[in-house]
Amino acid sequence: MRMISEELKQKLATPLKIGDLEVKSRVLQSPLSGVTDLVFRRLVRKYAPESMLYTEMVHASRLHHVKKLPKIMEVDPQERPISIQLFDCRPNFLAEAAEKAVKEGADTVDINMGCPVNKITKNGGGSSLLRQPEIAEEIVRSVVKAVDVPVTVKTRIGWNDEEINILDFAKRMEDAGAKMLTLHARTRAQGYHGQARWDWIKRAREVLSIPVIANGDIFSVDAALRCLEETGADGVMCSRGTLGYPFLVGEIDYFFKTGKEKSPPTVVEKLECAKEHLRGLWEYKGERGIYQSRKHLAWYAKGFPGAGELRDRLTQVQSVEEGCELINGAIDLTINNL
Ligand SMILES: Cc1cc2nc3c(=O)[nH]c(=O)nc-3n(C[C@H](O)[C@H](O)[C@H](O)COP(=O)(O)O)c2cc1C
Repeated sequence: MRMISEELKQKLATPLKIGDLEVKSRVLQSPLSGVTDLVFRRLVRKYAPESMLYTEMVHASRLHHVKKLPKIMEVDPQERPISIQLFDCRPNFLAEAAEKAVKEGADTVDINMGCPVNKITKNGGGSSLLRQPEIAEEIVRSVVKAVDVPVTVKTRIGWNDEEINILDFAKRMEDAGAKMLTLHARTRAQGYHGQARWDWIKRAREVLSIPVIANGDIFSVDAALRCLEETGADGVMCSRGTLGYPFLVGEIDYFFKTGKEKSPPTVVEKLECAKEHLRGLWEYKGERGIYQSRKHLAWYAKGFPGAGELRDRLTQVQSVEEGCELINGAIDLTINNL
């Protein structure tokens, strides 16, 4: 039996307000490059009908000359609320890209100021903006001016342990017009290692008036509740916990709304979901979808007898038929062992 404070109960009973936008869920699906395409989001949406979902990050200046938007910006009319995430370091390109994102159907535009990848930071984007707060401010101001949907920022607590500047940085983002801040509570130097430092989320929550979304190590309902109690954050965002498990956001949302545990999917349900994912990728992306499906399928194949062997074979899958056959074999085996 989980104990929840009265304060948290009340918070969970009210919608999340991002500027003028009301979102009826306080658990969000994070942007994940190479993962949160339309196909993955459809699966998440099935279990979390009211949560805010994010596209993969989109390189803003790459949109400057193109007539047709890249597939990663494509949004289903039914999948709202949806945020399109952009990255770059040039305010004018970001503003222009944000206009395109809104035309595509984005309910909010999120600016990535947290990506640790060298290729991005050496060009001034992602988490390197933590070291250039004036440019980050200018970016937010330009994008806010360009679009009439809320502009939000996702960032980290600092560049490294010697440069944890999130409190000043977050305030600057709010003052520049950001309507929500998602904080991945690690430094850039940490990458994805070590524990997320939720104490910084609490401190950021204390200095800001806009909603603060806690991100980092939200892998379960318990973690989500503990994080909200400890930090006072306005919501949680799930990331790696959803790899091969698009049920997580829905599970947490269900608990937030009902106070009851949703029974976790059975092995067979997870494997059926893997097949749906594979078929979706094939239909949406063709051959490329099959190659991309391999990592997803490997993530699904864990936690049951024979999972290791299945995983090895799924990482080499060449076609939908082959993938489905392998998964069907595992389903039969699971049912026979019940
Ligand atoms: C494969 C992968 C891709 C990611 N892509 C993005 C991205 O496109 N945009 C972004 O803001 N963060 C991205 N992130 C960071 C996550 O959204 C999240 O901030 C981070 O994983 C911390 O949460 P966790 O500890 O729950 O995984 C990515 C992380 C992973 C593992």
